[in-house]
Amino acid sequence: MSDTALPPVHSATDTILIVDFGSQVTQLIARRVREAGVYCEIVPFAKAMEGYERLDPRAVILSGSPASVTDENGPLAPDEILNSGRPIFGICYGEQVICHQMGGRVEPGDHREFGRAHLDIIDDCRLFHGFWAKGDAPQVWMSHGDRVTAIPPGFRVVATSPGAPFAAIADDERRIYAVQFHPEVVHTPEGARLISRFVHEVAGCKADWTMQAFREAEIARVRAQVGDGKVICGLSGGVDSSVVAVLLHEAIGDQLTCVFVDTGLMRAGEAEEVVTLFRDHYNIRLVHSDASDLFLDKLAGVTDPEQKRKIIGATFIDVFEKEAKAIGGADFLAQGTLYPDVIESVSFSGGPSVTIKSHHNVGGLPARMRMKLVEPLRELFKDEVRALGRELGLPAAFVGRHPFPGPGLAIRMPGDITAEKLDILRKADKIYLEEIRNAGLYDEIWQAFAVLLPVRTVGVMGDGRTYDQVCGLRAVTSVDGMTADSYPFEHAFLSRVATRIINEVKGINRVVYDITSKPPGTIEWE
Ligand code: XMP
Repeated sequence: MSDTALPPVHSATDTILIVDFGSQVTQLIARRVREAGVYCEIVPFAKAMEGYERLDPRAVILSGSPASVTDENGPLAPDEILNSGRPIFGICYGEQVICHQMGGRVEPGDHREFGRAHLDIIDDCRLFHGFWAKGDAPQVWMSHGDRVTAIPPGFRVVATSPGAPFAAIADDERRIYAVQFHPEVVHTPEGARLISRFVHEVAGCKADWTMQAFREAEIARVRAQVGDGKVICGLSGGVDSSVVAVLLHEAIGDQLTCVFVDTGLMRAGEAEEVVTLFRDHYNIRLVHSDASDLFLDKLAGVTDPEQKRKIIGATFIDVFEKEAKAIGGADFLAQGTLYPDVIESVSFSGGPSVTIKSHHNVGGLPARMRMKLVEPLRELFKDEVRALGRELGLPAAFVGRHPFPGPGLAIRMPGDITAEKLDILRKADKIYLEEIRNAGLYDEIWQAFAVLLPVRTVGVMGDGRTYDQVCGLRAVTSVDGMTADSYPFEHAFLSRVATRIINEVKGINRVVYDITSKPPGTIEWE
């Protein structure tokens, strides 16, 4: 945990508090507020007062929810917040909370209204000013079961829809606004503007949440936390750890040592790139620990994917600890924890979710090494980390990189892992990515990679018969890695890649393209 005595990151900025009632899309509200240049935090409804007192926000947004205010245990907002005199914006369930608690009425609906709908704007409103006017019929996204049947005193209706007679309501005097639809999702095309109007025009927040301001504030925070202590940072070459390394180096210079554990499971040229960029270009103290033989030894003969992950995770920790000792230890461990990892999720179902894959990270380190953590990205979403990376001058190729899993090529090779197979896979993967870059498609794709299948098939090359391995190609689009669709390449593109791989990579004589979406598939093959 970061030190609570430190100045909070938001101290220089106007802040919005988002009270989460458990909607699937609450994080999108936060994204839209941040995109409007305003800092915000999400707190679960049960801790709303705690968050309110800690943040002293300029305004509060109440999220959607799968729950019902008409249920005995339906979650509610603290009256202190509703009566605080600060601007409030209720979204979907948030509107129902306002109506239920402030003197209106909500009734269970007999069917859900779900999907696109058109509003009828019946009155002008400060929230819509400049893009929706009386008589307009903009498209919005609805997803609700219960219906508001009476609004509280002081409110007026500003928009209706066929399924929601109180689709948008306003109390200009108390600066409380609420909508039944979801402005945070892209299916409400003007939704982001509406949220921006609320935070700027209604709540009066300045747009001072920029990565330039964050960089300065965070550097000061890190200096205050670390003092003259030593910090060690695991550098993988991925976006998060790269940004952490460069930011910390700017803050504390040679008090930082980065450790790059070369597992031998990286892609072509990757280890060299990391060393060149961080050691030679940034002058960061970098330990390059080439542990590839150790990893290969430990993985010899192992075919089970979970077993591979566990071995790699444990070996990583061993090597990292050994290197930490070799540099004389450190007081702090720096980690690239992001905001989505620290948001407390609101669960109505109770039980824990099923582990599909145990993702390897440096998660086991802190407890074992008993070091304090430095987590400079814990307030940021992924795209803010990318923006910070650009702000810090990291090369575009690093900042825009596709995610790469900790266990690396080991989980892109069903079956056992050998140096020879790794070499074949590296060559095929390099050609595939080269072609994707040449076609200008890299940034449209969330992740693209080659997989080496443990299957041999017969082929014919020249006059001879071949009996070689199959290469699978995977490319997906996704917003968060939770769901994904296979990328619809042109056939000619795939043929070009297949021809190059078969001609240039000895050991592969057949190429297939994976068209499975997630779910039911996963992005990686193991
Ligand atoms: P799946 O395969 O679960 O992948 O659909 C979702 C995202 O997670 C990445 N991934 C991993 N990342 N350690 C990681 O650090 C892992 O063990 C691991 N397994 C999958 C995957 O690359 C994708 O971005």
